[in-house]
Amino acid sequence: MRRRRVGRIVSAMSEQTSVVVDNQRYWEALAPYRSGESVESLRSGARVLNEHEWAAVGDVRGRRVLQLACSVGDEALTFAQLGAHVTAVDLAPSHLATGRAKAEALGLAVDFQEQDMMNLDPDVTGFDLVFISWGGLCWAPDIDAWARLVAQRLNPGGVLVISEHHPLWEVLTVADQGQLSVSGDYFNSGRDGYVDPLKAPEITRSLGVPDLPHRSFVWSIGSVVSAVLAAGLTVRSLQEFAEADMYPGLGDGAGCIPATYLLTAVRRTQP
Ligand SMILES: C[S@@+](CC[C@H](N)C(=O)[O-])C[C@H]1O[C@@H](n2cnc3c(N)ncnc32)[C@H](O)[C@@H]1O
Repeated sequence: MRRRRVGRIVSAMSEQTSVVVDNQRYWEALAPYRSGESVESLRSGARVLNEHEWAAVGDVRGRRVLQLACSVGDEALTFAQLGAHVTAVDLAPSHLATGRAKAEALGLAVDFQEQDMMNLDPDVTGFDLVFISWGGLCWAPDIDAWARLVAQRLNPGGVLVISEHHPLWEVLTVADQGQLSVSGDYFNSGRDGYVDPLKAPEITRSLGVPDLPHRSFVWSIGSVVSAVLAAGLTVRSLQEFAEADMYPGLGDGAGCIPATYLLTAVRRTQP
């Protein structure tokens, strides 16, 4: 199953799929070092989502939930613990294997699927909630196509929740003596590797970055909102948050600039 999907991705090679193949290899290389919350911690009710995310997501009991770029599945497992019917997709088979092992240990039924979120199988559809978080959206090479695809997979009245690193944080670096410098391009989304190691997946800071090509994308707030609206969704809220920990060394100034954002959008019940 794992080999068949990787082969399928490779056979349809184009610029976009070559990005997907590179990113899949990159994330596979990180898999041995990324296990997420322990089964014990999940069992005892680890706080995997923050209060703002819970307020956006609402009561998931009995709802069909799709998590995109789920990695080892801690959020997907949490939704399932609360009674949701969860499908969770990711590109990296080893991350999904970790998620499946946790689901089995917890006695939960989460449908973990190896899929490119830009090219989901047609039967991955009919969801009441689509959720993506913390370093997931930056792997979508085309924000407009991504939003269209999500809108198509939502039921009427269904909700999209994006909880992400703020694109301004993505392009700012705290240099020596607490000075901010611009290390990325807010308006020009594609980037190979990371100028600022703080923007790379957290585990790479202790590991050193695996010497493998990978390409991610900074999606400005304007591009995300425009893409979501163009896809026919109604934006319900857009919140921006400061997180002092995400600008280490900046001092009080870290409380004055955004580090994360949370966007909630709804698919209208009437066309
Ligand atoms: C930072 S992690 C996931 C974030 C998740 N919220 C978490 O905290 O674990 C990013 C994930 O995106 C996945 N990914 C990258 N490109 C993808 C794609 N095109 N389709 C699906 N998943 C993708 C990677 O395999 C990786 O597991």
